Amino acid sequence: MAVLVTGGAGYIGTHTALALHEAGRQVVILDDLSNSSERAVDAVRSLMGADADDVPFVCGDAADVELVSRTIIDHGIDEVVHFAAFKSVSESVERPLAYFANNMGSLIGVVEAMAATDVRRLVFSSSCTVYGEPDEVPVTEASPTGAANPYGWTKLHGEQFLEQVASAGDLDVMLLRYFNPVGAHPSGTMGEDPHGIPTNLVPFLMQVAVGRLDRLRVFGGDYDTPDGSPVRDYLHVVDLAEGHVAALDALGSTPGCTAVNLGTGRGYSVLEVVAAAEQVLGRPVPHEVVDRRPGDVARIWAETELAERVLGWTAGRDLTEMLADHWRWQEAHPAGFGG
Ligand SMILES: NC(=O)c1ccc[n+]([C@@H]2O[C@H](COP(=O)([O-])OP(=O)(O)OC[C@H]3O[C@@H](n4cnc5c(N)ncnc54)[C@H](O)[C@@H]3O)[C@@H](O)[C@H]2O)c1
Repeated sequence: MAVLVTGGAGYIGTHTALALHEAGRQVVILDDLSNSSERAVDAVRSLMGADADDVPFVCGDAADVELVSRTIIDHGIDEVVHFAAFKSVSESVERPLAYFANNMGSLIGVVEAMAATDVRRLVFSSSCTVYGEPDEVPVTEASPTGAANPYGWTKLHGEQFLEQVASAGDLDVMLLRYFNPVGAHPSGTMGEDPHGIPTNLVPFLMQVAVGRLDRLRVFGGDYDTPDGSPVRDYLHVVDLAEGHVAALDALGSTPGCTAVNLGTGRGYSVLEVVAAAEQVLGRPVPHEVVDRRPGDVARIWAETELAERVLGWTAGRDLTEMLADHWRWQEAHPAGFGG
């Protein structure tokens, strides 16, 4: 099987490309490098022991139907994993138009290219943001959906679009609702390297620990949670990558459109994560609790039963392993792939 991985130079995309390769699939990466660098592609090829002929890289926009169609035909693609999107909740509140244009435009582009080339298996990067501010936790795939920010709406509209294309019989789709991926490949040679200042907790925390940023700001200390800081379901990015292999495998026997949570089923507060990181580092991480950030929800974690049943997948790596692996990468590469 040959898989096109859009956004495959990014954080989850690189780890997934490696997992797909290890599972015996041919991988082709397409990315416009808007939030990544080609050095990430070099790192993933190096972990695979592969070169540019084995794992081709196409630099371009996933919204470009002609480019994606040509890539599918040239490389004999059978399946697509679509990561390419902007992903910052806070930036989406400031730039909703850019988020709708890129996230919907790239998804529609990929689906049009798949329709034009008769490729029908798609895994879509969705998010627990589609549950908005949940009334009850854990959230199941049947929990009410909504969104608390423009980024979340792009994922929810993306899911609705795919459900309708699938119900017309044109696609088989897994909507993977990720919770909060953290960590890095255990080799320390590949990890998260966002452009600009990170907007997610763990990359921000690690950049403070390595001296790139001064102090961590914990957004909100007055939520209705045990210590007042928000609670999230963190999962190891390598577990998440393996979930994509399981999803592609399951698509053969699961036609239509299926939404599946990928999380651990356990929530940690932001302050608990900071304390666990301090344990891993063996020193304090400067941090302060500040006002809430627009678009954030108080608490969310996953019900994982469907992922176990449909995909045969569970997230086995614990919080300490996530933070130790993330730190190994950050400590060895203080400036990310640039250094
Ligand atoms: N990291 C998270 O916490 C998280 C949680 C839930 C869902 N997701 C989703 O998972 C996917 C991957 O996230 P990530 O953390 O790896 O982010 P990332 O920014 O590291 O990776 C996304 C990649 O897509 C590329 N890209 C963006 N727009 C593109 C376009 N139009 N054409 C081609 N390439 C494009 C970027 O350059 C980047 O390499 C995204 O769809 C994101 O919304 C991420």
